Amino acid sequence: MLAACGTDEPLTTISPRSDVAGDIQGLYSLIFWAAVFVFVVVEGLLVYAVIRYRRRPGDGIPPQSHGHRLLEIGWTLAPIAILVVVVIPTWQVIFKTADAPDGAMRVEVMAHQWWWEVRYPGLGVVTANEVHVPVGSPVTVQLETADVIHSFWVPRLSGKRDMVPGRVNAIWFTPEATGTFLGQCAELCGESHANMKFQVVVQEQAEFDAWVEAQRRAPDPPQGLAATGASLFLSKGCLACHTIEGTVALGVIGPNLTHVGGRSTLGAGMMNNTPDEMARWLRDPSAVKPGNIMTRDGAMYTNAALALTEDDIAALAAYLGGLR
Ligand code: CUA
Repeated sequence: MLAACGTDEPLTTISPRSDVAGDIQGLYSLIFWAAVFVFVVVEGLLVYAVIRYRRRPGDGIPPQSHGHRLLEIGWTLAPIAILVVVVIPTWQVIFKTADAPDGAMRVEVMAHQWWWEVRYPGLGVVTANEVHVPVGSPVTVQLETADVIHSFWVPRLSGKRDMVPGRVNAIWFTPEATGTFLGQCAELCGESHANMKFQVVVQEQAEFDAWVEAQRRAPDPPQGLAATGASLFLSKGCLACHTIEGTVALGVIGPNLTHVGGRSTLGAGMMNNTPDEMARWLRDPSAVKPGNIMTRDGAMYTNAALALTEDDIAALAAYLGGLR
């Protein structure tokens, strides 16, 4: 009950900001009030019967109602009526959410242990852990996984839908308010399942167009310390897993880092994107995200010759932070 007094609930389902999330919340309300009705009627009859028909001195055996046809029919029909009231709107919402409207913008999200690859096939944009969409127009999100089962869930915008190996699923919604909405993987997917977060940034159309333009532009060439970081990126093995457009780094195992400096979080929602946090991540990724393959398989963490010094980390953080 005290949780209900909170005011900052980024993962709440009960204040939806999209058409689909609103429909789902509508079902939730309907079923909640139907359950309240049943509870009050059943408990009311129970309490009434307990008091009205309690045993008194001299009572004999009360009248027996076993096999009473009218009662039997009544308490079979009443639950059927309640289920019909619940099931018809539920079907309507299921069918409505199954197919995206024509002309919906398509975004492809590929889940990885434990981050989200985000592609805009029509726009030539590739990013990670941050989905930008314009307010007021429908967006359909194609859902796939590169490894195990994950689940895409943005409580205030979308329902929850699994990403299953070998299958292509989809979910759609029309955002109705601008803002940043938190998403969370909702299917146990390994050691850092709880650390697999993301954001959906809903923007005015013009703002979204500007973001797309910026994503398609190469970042400014690195200067000074950042230039040192750029050459470390190529010599320390980072390029094997990460892509930075305009360089020879074309790895596709980890997130595309072309504009990583412009994202608001690092490590799939684990840290704010600041130079200090980037350095903390580079120093020991497994301290932030246990089990991640950057530490497990990354040469700079397993091969002493490629190990990062504090100076290397500062230069890399300067380089990556400048990729906007
Ligand atoms: Cu991905 Cu849990």
